[in-house]
Amino acid sequence: MKIVVAYSGGLDTSVLLLWLKEKYNAEVIAYCADVGQGEELDGLEEKALKTGASKCYIGDLKEEFAADYIYPMFQANALYEGRYLLGTSIARPCISKGMVDVAIKEGADAIAHGATGKGNDQVRFELSVAALAPDIKMIAPWRDDEFRAQFPGRSEMIAYCEEHGIDVTASKKKPYSMDRNLLHISFEAGDLEDTWHDATGEADRDMYVLSVSPEEAPDTPEYVQFLFEKGNIIGLQYDGLEKVIADLGDFKVEGEKDGYTLLSPYGVMRVLNFLGGKHGIGRVDIVENRFVGMKSRGVYETPGGTIILAAHRDLETLTMDREAQYVRDDLITKYSQLVYNGFWFAPEREAIQALVTSTQQTVSGEVRLKLYKGNCMQAGRRSPLSLYSEDVATMEGGAEEAYNQNDATGFIALNALRLKASARQNG
Ligand code: ARG
Ligand code: SIN
Repeated sequence: MKIVVAYSGGLDTSVLLLWLKEKYNAEVIAYCADVGQGEELDGLEEKALKTGASKCYIGDLKEEFAADYIYPMFQANALYEGRYLLGTSIARPCISKGMVDVAIKEGADAIAHGATGKGNDQVRFELSVAALAPDIKMIAPWRDDEFRAQFPGRSEMIAYCEEHGIDVTASKKKPYSMDRNLLHISFEAGDLEDTWHDATGEADRDMYVLSVSPEEAPDTPEYVQFLFEKGNIIGLQYDGLEKVIADLGDFKVEGEKDGYTLLSPYGVMRVLNFLGGKHGIGRVDIVENRFVGMKSRGVYETPGGTIILAAHRDLETLTMDREAQYVRDDLITKYSQLVYNGFWFAPEREAIQALVTSTQQTVSGEVRLKLYKGNCMQAGRRSPLSLYSEDVATMEGGAEEAYNQNDATGFIALNALRLKASARQNG
């Protein structure tokens, strides 16, 4: 038997690797997806091989994650339960796809993951794999009674690794359950399990990774301009952008257009995370409904995503037909639930996506935002495809041929017809 296991080099996944190998007497292949979690991946292969893997793959999915998952999702303005920007949810299908590709290439029988039996992640991994490779078996050790009995706590895991000669001294117990990628970082469990615990205060100052608090953000606002093409940000413009790109250092400029610096989706995410983080943008604290039925409290930092959502929404107000926008808006809840619940590769998500993407054909143009202490303030939008007509909207006189006020009389009379009938019916 051949198993591909999701591996990070930490205590949990090292235990998983060893345990799978023993329990199934299997060849185990380690897979680590790089979705922009910002962790050092040097030395990971060596570690995996030492732990007993026959091979170790590091899937660089950063550009793919940004272009094929994050960007299409933001065309939909997805927001789970009104506030969660789905940072973890959207990474799971991308990672699953990476694992499936390796499993197919290697002719593996199974894919194993370290998600618990109480969460959403298990569902997302397994539904994604089911949709992509229906014949591959899934193994979830945390749902195995034997596994849970063997590892009731961290000390048993450390002892088990030591028994097998695996050095795990470097991994410290973290106070929260965290998940980081290019779109966000999440914090759950620990002190956060008390829903009344205030995570905005001094006590949790050091918990945050991607952003400062609004209180600590600069006292001067910063303007940023966005160049959109068909619902996607393709370019940015602001003072100091060049230096930020040089400092971040892991992506290239794609070109210049009308004063904008063109960047890949990954580059855009990197820059906007930096900018949002600097201005204290994108922190969210919610109690959310997990697909498996329980409520769970989470704190998120989504600096770049929060900026994208604000800019995108704003350009849509200028260039989208009202009714097309309403149809798309009606689907946001459904779309967000599909992403959250693990149905990224389901036919209904793909069908809604096709509609969403078709509504984005006119969402091209420029947006200007002012970033200031946790806020993205709208500061202007313009587009060659604008539907806004100053002639029609103006409060000044004239321009009767663009909009004849007398037409409104009949419009209101016909709309009033059924209201009058209803009022008479009610006596
Ligand atoms: N509650 C969020 C979600 O379901 C975050 C999950 C974080 N996952 C993790 N393994 N720490 O999308
Ligand atoms: C887990 O339980 O593995 C993490 C949390 C979640 O998946 O919702």
